Amino acid sequence: MQYLPIFTKLDNKPVLVVGGGDVALRKCSALLKARASITLVAPKFCQQLIELASENKVTLIHEYFSEQHLKNMMLVIAATDLEHVNSQVFELANTHNIFVNVVDDQLKCTFIFPSIVDRNPITIAISSAGTAPVLARRLREKLETLIPQHIGPLATLVGGFRSKVKQRFKHFADRRQFWEGVFDSSVVSKVQTGDTQAAEQQLEHMLNAKAEPEGEVYVVGAGPGDPELLTLKALQLMQQADVVVYDYLVSDEIMELVRRDADLICVGKRLGDHSVAQQDTNQMLVDLAKQGKKVCRIKGGDPFIYGRGGEEVQVLAANKVNYQIVPGITAAAGCSAYAGIPLTHRDHAQAIQFVTGHCKKDGQELDWQSLAKPNQTLAIYMGVIKSPHIQAELLKHGRNANTPVAIIENGTRKNQRVITGKLGELADLITRNSVVSPALLIIGEVASLHQELHWFGAKAQTSSFAQPLTDVA
Ligand SMILES: C[S@@+](CC[C@H](N)C(=O)[O-])C[C@H]1O[C@@H](n2cnc3c(N)ncnc32)[C@H](O)[C@@H]1O
Repeated sequence: MQYLPIFTKLDNKPVLVVGGGDVALRKCSALLKARASITLVAPKFCQQLIELASENKVTLIHEYFSEQHLKNMMLVIAATDLEHVNSQVFELANTHNIFVNVVDDQLKCTFIFPSIVDRNPITIAISSAGTAPVLARRLREKLETLIPQHIGPLATLVGGFRSKVKQRFKHFADRRQFWEGVFDSSVVSKVQTGDTQAAEQQLEHMLNAKAEPEGEVYVVGAGPGDPELLTLKALQLMQQADVVVYDYLVSDEIMELVRRDADLICVGKRLGDHSVAQQDTNQMLVDLAKQGKKVCRIKGGDPFIYGRGGEEVQVLAANKVNYQIVPGITAAAGCSAYAGIPLTHRDHAQAIQFVTGHCKKDGQELDWQSLAKPNQTLAIYMGVIKSPHIQAELLKHGRNANTPVAIIENGTRKNQRVITGKLGELADLITRNSVVSPALLIIGEVASLHQELHWFGAKAQTSSFAQPLTDVA
């Protein structure tokens, strides 16, 4: 981290701005919001600064900058268009250990002005450490649209209750749970509709009600790996959970987004390595919820597509535990899109079948007759190990050996790899390219479109993933 983000209280604290033009004026506007005591030094000043001085909002010193102007200052901003003056300000400020910002010269800044989303008293500051201010500004614009205006009044309301809540709940965990309940309650919508009085009454009521911890489980689909494919709801619930129960399939970038102080429990499953048996996971979810915890059970892809989410929810329902189910983008949808492979296409495939290569019971066979039919796409999950069998059965039941196939390894992730070829060489492609898990097999004419569309597919991804995908044809 190049800059430590801290929020400073500048109330009446002395700040020096060197310069008297528009740039200095702009910096003054930001500093005035924080009620800093501003002195400007310059041989001459623009009209607006003279007006601010006449309203006693700033003090003007009509002189060239010199070292004595730094005396007692907490911060200094060099806002002149003279490089040698800015450099002199920077050096002298450093000598005196005063934080300094030279406008538009990142190398001469010991502090920087972030882009700000202002929902007073909530303030969000965004910085690119001076490397990409336009990008930081864009992020700010995005946040401006995402963060509702009522967040400010809501923070003010709850701020007024903090000491009462502290008295009522001695333990931090209880206080946190109380506040989580408040933010999940209709207090929020009351503030949103401007009925602060009703919101306040309800908050008072909640504070006096007998607290009974009520746990719940969120069964959340995290998608195939790119964190930007998470739904807003998934993200929200990941950030309000006390405990996160996750699988290996959930990518590290997604796990980075769960609440910092949540307990993390891995119940990961890899073929031949079931670290926690499914029935133990089911019971764990019930037990945690019964202890009053908010549990986020996060799964790769969609929880109800080869995710065993159905079994977990059955157990929750049988034990009368509250739950929510949040769908996720399943691997077939995410990986095929990022590889530029449409799963259906007017000219090539009128149907799509999702298939597992890993059946529950040995000997439980798939309906190969149906799977080998033409004009359809097969998206095969967990099919890598059984690929020789899959290839042999499809060929035996009449699918053409020249049918295009694609193997998508680590789909939608930074290390996505797409390997294409023909059905007749499927198993060989997997061995030759040392394909690792997770990998999805796509069988059908649409797989041939990867060559034509994969750049389009790559570009359609989010910027952080818009790098060339490795292709092994
Ligand atoms: C146990 S299933 C879980 C499927 C998940 N519930 C879904 O909806 O995508 C695991 C299989 O999904 C496929 N898969 C999941 N994520 C993937 C990814 N990022 N890239 C390729 N295949 C993936 C692989 O076939 C993997 O073996």
